[in-house]
Amino acid sequence: MRPGRLPACSVSEIATLDTAPMLAILSTSGHHLLVEWLPDERVWSGVSGLSDDDVAAFERSHEFDPSREVARLQALGLSQHDLVVEFGSGPGGFAIAAAGIARELIAVDPSPAMCTYLSRRATEAGIDNIEVINAGFLTYQHQRPPARFVFSKNALHHLPDFWKAEALVRIRGLLEPAGVLRLRDLVFSFQPEEADERIDAWIDSTAAEGRLPRERLINHVRSEFSTYTWLLEEMLDRAGFDISDRCYSDSGIFAHYTCRRR
Ligand SMILES: C[S@@+](CC[C@H](N)C(=O)[O-])C[C@H]1O[C@@H](n2cnc3c(N)ncnc32)[C@H](O)[C@@H]1O
Repeated sequence: MRPGRLPACSVSEIATLDTAPMLAILSTSGHHLLVEWLPDERVWSGVSGLSDDDVAAFERSHEFDPSREVARLQALGLSQHDLVVEFGSGPGGFAIAAAGIARELIAVDPSPAMCTYLSRRATEAGIDNIEVINAGFLTYQHQRPPARFVFSKNALHHLPDFWKAEALVRIRGLLEPAGVLRLRDLVFSFQPEEADERIDAWIDSTAAEGRLPRERLINHVRSEFSTYTWLLEEMLDRAGFDISDRCYSDSGIFAHYTCRRR
């Protein structure tokens, strides 16, 4: 069964990806979109069973001002003519802000609670150019002309490395030539031999700030799939992207990339 497509501002049940054999469907680039060996990416999403209150609490604990990201995309040409696809849109801070500039924003997230929350926010704000799609990097099927911009923040680490590469190939397939991928995530820029020291330092300092419980930070390292910058950058290259701009946090935990589709 295909992932559900939620019209903006409506609520519907997530489609079950694991109840029917998958057909092999090819994108225009010839890449498989749905294959029988496709995993259920929700297993790794870390957000199953979230309630509306959980999403609101998530948003409070992950304060994020999207205006700089939107301004960055505007500097790269984002205008009222453009379609933007966001993966892992979560509560929708970026989607709401970018929809004010773009022609249309497609917000993709495998969590029904995140989708419902964003749909409601958009309705309440009188925004009608956001389409919320209950799917993920591996299951979203782009049924529009190629997009000029893709944005994703703190979501790709939910996929193991093989599937990150798959996701990047799929993103490339939905972008127009020279289209922009703006990718932010928890990606480790330290050397492997520094891992103990750097990860401990990040957990200690972030927990001391009081925004996130220590257990959540430990869980990120233990159960999610943050990778090294040198691995992710190779994946971006092999998926067909040139990195035009990269930035690593001093902690060595976060990396931001602006990439162009070759
Ligand atoms: C840490 S939150 C980040 C939300 C938002 N981008 C932000 O920065 O506030 C991670 C988001 O990625 C989503 N996610 C998890 N697995 C995903 C997948 N396979 N494809 C797309 N999004 C995924 C989660 O549902 C969640 O909304």
